[in-house]
Amino acid sequence: MMVAHFVLSVLIVAAIVSGSEFSDTRDAKVEKILKKLNKPALKSIKSPDGDIIDCVHMNNHPIYDHPFFKNYTIQMKPSSYPKVRPNPSERKVSWSPYVQTPKEFSLAQMWVMAGPFSEVNSVEAGWQVYQDRYGDDNPRYFIFWTADGYHSGCYNLDCPGFVPVSQNFALGAAVSNVSTLNGQQYHIPTTIWKDPHTGNWWLKFNDHEFVGYWPSILFNHLKDGATEIQWGGEIINFKDGSLHTTTRMGSGHFAEEGYQKASYFKNLEIIDEHDIHNKPKEGYSYMTQESCYNIRSGYAKIWGVYFYYGGPGRNQNLRHPSHNHPLRGHKAQVEDEIICSGCDLDLIGAYFKCTKSECDYFLHKSCFDLPREIRHKSHPDHPLILLYSPQNNHFPYTCDACGEYGSGFTYNCSICQYDVHVGCVSMPETMKHDEHVHPLALIYKAPCPTDHIFTCDVCNETMPHNLWLYYCQKCDYGAHLHSCVAEEEEKPEKGGRGRGRGRGGEGGSSGNGVNRGRSSANSELAAMLKAQREMEQMQIALHLEMQRAKIDKKSRKHMLKMI
Ligand SMILES: *[C@@H]1O[C@H](CO)[C@@H](O)[C@H](O)[C@H]1NC(C)=O
Ligand SMILES: *[C@@H]1O[C@H](CO)[C@@H](O)[C@H](O)[C@H]1NC(C)=O
Ligand SMILES: *[C@@H]1O[C@H](CO)[C@@H](O)[C@H](O)[C@H]1NC(C)=O
Ligand SMILES: *[C@@H]1O[C@H](CO)[C@@H](O)[C@H](O)[C@H]1NC(C)=O
Ligand SMILES: [Zn+2]
Ligand SMILES: [Zn+2]
Ligand SMILES: [Zn+2]
Repeated sequence: MMVAHFVLSVLIVAAIVSGSEFSDTRDAKVEKILKKLNKPALKSIKSPDGDIIDCVHMNNHPIYDHPFFKNYTIQMKPSSYPKVRPNPSERKVSWSPYVQTPKEFSLAQMWVMAGPFSEVNSVEAGWQVYQDRYGDDNPRYFIFWTADGYHSGCYNLDCPGFVPVSQNFALGAAVSNVSTLNGQQYHIPTTIWKDPHTGNWWLKFNDHEFVGYWPSILFNHLKDGATEIQWGGEIINFKDGSLHTTTRMGSGHFAEEGYQKASYFKNLEIIDEHDIHNKPKEGYSYMTQESCYNIRSGYAKIWGVYFYYGGPGRNQNLRHPSHNHPLRGHKAQVEDEIICSGCDLDLIGAYFKCTKSECDYFLHKSCFDLPREIRHKSHPDHPLILLYSPQNNHFPYTCDACGEYGSGFTYNCSICQYDVHVGCVSMPETMKHDEHVHPLALIYKAPCPTDHIFTCDVCNETMPHNLWLYYCQKCDYGAHLHSCVAEEEEKPEKGGRGRGRGRGGEGGSSGNGVNRGRSSANSELAAMLKAQREMEQMQIALHLEMQRAKIDKKSRKHMLKMI
């Protein structure tokens, strides 16, 4: 059996939009238009992209098919509308994403909602690619609405309800300008607002196209204003071949790829009953399949509240046995200051990150590729096995090569209880040090009998006999591994930012302190995320219901344009 799953990445904002009363009088300037049943379309026209559009006279407006609207007077113009400003209320950027099968869709839209879920009222508008419905894979303008928790309601003009008034625009029309990767980005400014006089919910596309409205009388909850606004992308996943679909969301690129790569919404605003444009507050983003599609929101002066969203669907996420979630490749920026969860060293160059935004798991590419078992000169009798977390999870182990603490991966000999940082294992056998004229060789114990004291020639500290060091035999010159050779310029600070390692010689508190700092911040974060996830669970139930109801309502219809 084929099962559809709905996957979405949305930004959700609670809002009270227009709580004011409105008068029930219809637009008096417009002549009363009487219904004339079954009058055919005056003419059909073919749009440049091959669509057949029926032109219907206002007298035969499809709204008259709805029992509520027998003697209805159509409001030809909104009594007022939000000012078009340099920053219109919302712009979604249009793309033409690949959709794996005709029965799947990929869309970007906004939702204006009110009421409890079982009887939620929702008006929705955006663009979608949906071949089963439109016959091709062009992105098309669409609307959707429901007044009863998605028991009824429909796309475009599939059922009477939405009142189209534009004489230039047909719902279902293809979006003519589509953004390209690294090229021009095209926007669809979209405004949905409540007419203060009639209470009707008007829709405007592209700053000037008054598409039409949802009459207030359709709704029991939205008639008092909206309580929640959502913006985002959504796809259907039919899991053909039992794999996640390769249907793309947005541009098909992940949010973090940014401008000219990822799809975005910008200038998100909420208009209140006084026509004041407000920044959405207390929004949160919500993703159901973060390894396939994600979202990153932000605020900038010109873009206002914005977010990037989308992704490629099934993709080359990688699994690593050290972590439960899929990982994705990135390239580190110099200023990132992140440490590798494998070797505890700073991230540089190519690395992998957990695809879950709440999960701070990072691996160098080189740590990702470490062999499970090695032989090392330092420990010739036994193989060393790569362990992903120290056996005693809550305490760092001590590296037998450098004497410092470690909390990530270790190469371990279980017979000898010998542990070496993965970073120490890969130290070169010889190296050139600024403070010494000759090259230094890596040796695995102090070059003197155990009853002698060996001091590091860089820091002058006494070195335990069993630790590795870089040594010049000719000059009897030797130095500690990390602090005194490789990481000389970056001595770890006690209780610092969790970067670098505590020195073994400074006693237990240093390494432990660093570690505890990280884990208590982690537990706070975990509690916060748990609360958020609970909220999201409720949201998931809502969306799945919504979408299940929507997919049933997709029969292909001619487009209508009013004349
Ligand atoms: C519509 O108007 C006619 C004539 O004014 C009236 O008889 C009829 O009851 C009205 N129908 C509705 C549904 O209001
Ligand atoms: C499409 O883009 C062109 C060039 O940027 C512009 O002139 C035209 O008005 C746009 N069309 C629509 C429908 O936005
Ligand atoms: C290395 O292996 C030994 C024996 O299995 C174990 O006691 C020790 O905890 C391991 N080291 C780490 C860091 O897990
Ligand atoms: C180490 O000791 C030597 C000789 O006593 C001295 O010249 C040098 O400055 C000392 N170095 C440090 C880092 O203390
Ligand atoms: Zn690493
Ligand atoms: Zn993770
Ligand atoms: Zn080490």
